[in-house]
Amino acid sequence: MTREDVIRLKTWFAGYAAGYYMDDPNHNRAICLKEEHTERVCGNILMLGREINLSEQEMLIAETVALFHDVGRFKQYADYGTFRDMASENHARLGIREMSLHRVLDGCTKEEKRIISRAVAYHNAVMLPSEGDVFMRLIRDADKLDIWNVVTSYYAERDRQRNVAIELDLPDTPVCSQNVIALLNSRKFIRMRDLKTLDDFKLMQIGWAFDLNFAPSFRELRRLRYIEEIEATLPKSEAISEAVKKVMDYVESKCL
Ligand SMILES: [Fe+2]
Repeated sequence: MTREDVIRLKTWFAGYAAGYYMDDPNHNRAICLKEEHTERVCGNILMLGREINLSEQEMLIAETVALFHDVGRFKQYADYGTFRDMASENHARLGIREMSLHRVLDGCTKEEKRIISRAVAYHNAVMLPSEGDVFMRLIRDADKLDIWNVVTSYYAERDRQRNVAIELDLPDTPVCSQNVIALLNSRKFIRMRDLKTLDDFKLMQIGWAFDLNFAPSFRELRRLRYIEEIEATLPKSEAISEAVKKVMDYVESKCL
């Protein structure tokens, strides 16, 4: 694919997202959140791609993956009024369906189509298939870096403006569940169904560090101090600070 293809896809995406705005400020805020998230994830993936020396051609594919990774979010919100996959459907699958329905990748080669669709399909999967390629790993890192950005800005101003969509409707009782702390300690993946409180959710977000793939992603996480920022909003306890310290040591060891 060429630079012109990517420009054309970006124009298509802007028109597609624009079609989801309605006469409802709350609805529009949710749509706008995803449009802006997409733009920042595109920026993140280009930054990571440059750091790991992708070729020009690979950079175009990476940017396309980032552009479409959350394309399913718009229809998800329009149809179900939520971004919770468990309460609606898998937004990555939904995105793949929208992409084929609108034939957005028709200008790409068969191989490019396969790579882009697979990276979109797996961007939110618990685990990557063993044959996962560089684009699948890049989008997951680029996406997480922006989710950390979104949640830390949100926690900073939460007292002024609540958003239950971001909090997954979890109760804000200031405790972390023992089993979630234990999962974090043992570097095990924390699942949505393990979460009982908002603070558990924050521990899960801290634990995403174990899922990063590239050194520049770890360096960005360290530079922007996302883990420290999330930790500052958690209850003060030795068990929590020990678990978080382990994550930070892990991040440090991967920054080289
Ligand atoms: Fe997503």
